[in-house]
Amino acid sequence: MAEKLTKGIFITFEGPEGCGKSTHSRRLFDEMTSDGMEVVHTAEPGGTELGARIRDILLEKKDIRLGEVAELLLFEADRAQHVAEVIRPALEEGGIVLCDRFNTATFAYQGYGLGMDMDLVKRVDRAATGGLEADLTVLMDVDVETGLKRAGAYSAGDRMEKRAVSFHRKVRDAYLRMAGDEPGRFIIIRVSDDIEQTYKAVREAVYGYIERNKGTG
Ligand code: TMP
Repeated sequence: MAEKLTKGIFITFEGPEGCGKSTHSRRLFDEMTSDGMEVVHTAEPGGTELGARIRDILLEKKDIRLGEVAELLLFEADRAQHVAEVIRPALEEGGIVLCDRFNTATFAYQGYGLGMDMDLVKRVDRAATGGLEADLTVLMDVDVETGLKRAGAYSAGDRMEKRAVSFHRKVRDAYLRMAGDEPGRFIIIRVSDDIEQTYKAVREAVYGYIERNKGTG
């Protein structure tokens, strides 16, 4: 278990392309806010002004050539700024942070997906996070083909979505493997066609976690 550095609760949402995490985490944010909780919703890449520009380069500017190391460093630059400017201050205030994607995405996409040296990935990541880890990671699992179809990747996908199906299979396998290795941090939610049922499962996972961990920070 990672050392607890702050008194807030840090919850991340992960999954392969088209898993629907952003829709559910936003809805959860709305519900938690109206229940009077101190909660922030944010996302990577792009959770800061710098991050929005980095996101544009990483995902939208398909004409810019980007090597693997440059790609890794851009995701981590986004993260370093995001942790310093948004996530850590909110956690230090004792708030709940809901974040679409965090470092588990880097391990899955750049580490396993691209096959980069995992020691290097972890070292750079640690510099960016300062050791901050998610308390709870909700892994929204979906079949690769279904997810890519939902994300519109076959027609107008961004740089990541346009990668080969085999890349996305590695990403999904990596997520499931990491979840298996760290059952205390991950909750796996199998995404179904029934959006209400999926939301209910996400809601229960997060509310249940908060209920069990209130005041322990
Ligand atoms: P999303 O906002 O739709 O989740 O898109 C973010 C994309 O960036 C998605 O394809 C996953 C990818 N990504 C990485 O490859 N590495 C990372 O560290 C992060 C945060 C995202």
